[in-house]
Amino acid sequence: MGKITAAITGVGGFVPDYILTNEELSRMVDTTDEWIMTRIGIKERHILKGEGLGTSDIAIHAVNELLRKTNTKPEEVDMLICGVVTPDMQFPATANIISDKCGIKNAFGFDMNAGCSSFLYALVTASKFVESGTHKKVIVVGADKMSSITDYTDRATCPIFGDGAGAVLLEPCEDGFGVMDAKMQVDGSGRKHLHQVAGGSCYPASIETVTKRQHYIYQEGQPVFKAAVSNMADVAVEMMKRNNITPEKLAWLVPHQANMRIIEATANRMGIGKDKVMINIERFGNTTSATIPLCLWEWESKLKKGDNVIIATFGAGFTWGACYIKWAYDGSKFAK
Ligand code: UT7
Repeated sequence: MGKITAAITGVGGFVPDYILTNEELSRMVDTTDEWIMTRIGIKERHILKGEGLGTSDIAIHAVNELLRKTNTKPEEVDMLICGVVTPDMQFPATANIISDKCGIKNAFGFDMNAGCSSFLYALVTASKFVESGTHKKVIVVGADKMSSITDYTDRATCPIFGDGAGAVLLEPCEDGFGVMDAKMQVDGSGRKHLHQVAGGSCYPASIETVTKRQHYIYQEGQPVFKAAVSNMADVAVEMMKRNNITPEKLAWLVPHQANMRIIEATANRMGIGKDKVMINIERFGNTTSATIPLCLWEWESKLKKGDNVIIATFGAGFTWGACYIKWAYDGSKFAK
């Protein structure tokens, strides 16, 4: 019997209908399409509208599509982890809410918050349960309603973020496909540059925290940018080296979509052209936990069995990491 690895066997995704364009943003704050395109590389992002709707309401579309495509019955799922920084509520976990809404009744699960790295952290964590043999159908979700913590009076952050969700199914594989290697890291001292001040136990919601707009994303762009470029590129290059993947042997880089310039810098350091990089930041913006599964979802039909894929991420925390996957199936079988 071969070693058990955790293989992705399907991908689902969803973005809400409403499209917030740079043109609309430039009527809300002092900005321009030219500035946003040059400095970040985003043209539009999708936003969830509707009273009382949260991250789970985006995620369930991705999970239901995944169940349908992979012919998986909800009751067969034995674990669901949700990477998320904008949970429906402080508690209970959004993973539980998604499971309930999708009829997943025989699973255990939890949320994982590693900033924009949440999906990759969740994927790597889930893969260990599959590799150990204890869990056989594991769903990993990356979902965020970033519009719920975005300050639409702050021009430095409001162009960046969008809402979305993606989900993958992980199953055991004995033929040498799936998650082959991963390296994840944190540096908590970076928290001062990117966080949400209020709403946690330090500063519970009060009239003062609301007045001071402390329930929104606080970001100092430049230190985050610098740390993202160096750490994401370093760990992606390390992943190539220690698995003997030359630029020619790499089929795809799947980078977190925070800024086009960060993506380009990472690809340059890896020695690969943009033709091998999944990029959809222009249409979706930074959907935080959802960027990576949304890329896999959009590129699924181009992915082939045996493709060498590297996922790389960086986020609030600071958190970062990379993962090497030998892709397990021809995505064209799911062509839309
Ligand atoms: O996903 C989690 C990790 N997050 C990231 O990776 C984000 C990393 N950081 C970034 O992507 C970039 O730092 C930003 C996109 C956030 C900002 O780009 P920047 O090139 O670092 O701009 P900056 O903050 O240094 O601002 C440059 C100038 C400033 O004006 P002055 O002081 O030079 O006169 C800003 O006030 O651009 C101004 N500015 C804007 N101008 C027009 C800031 N935001 C805007 C805007 N429109 N939306």
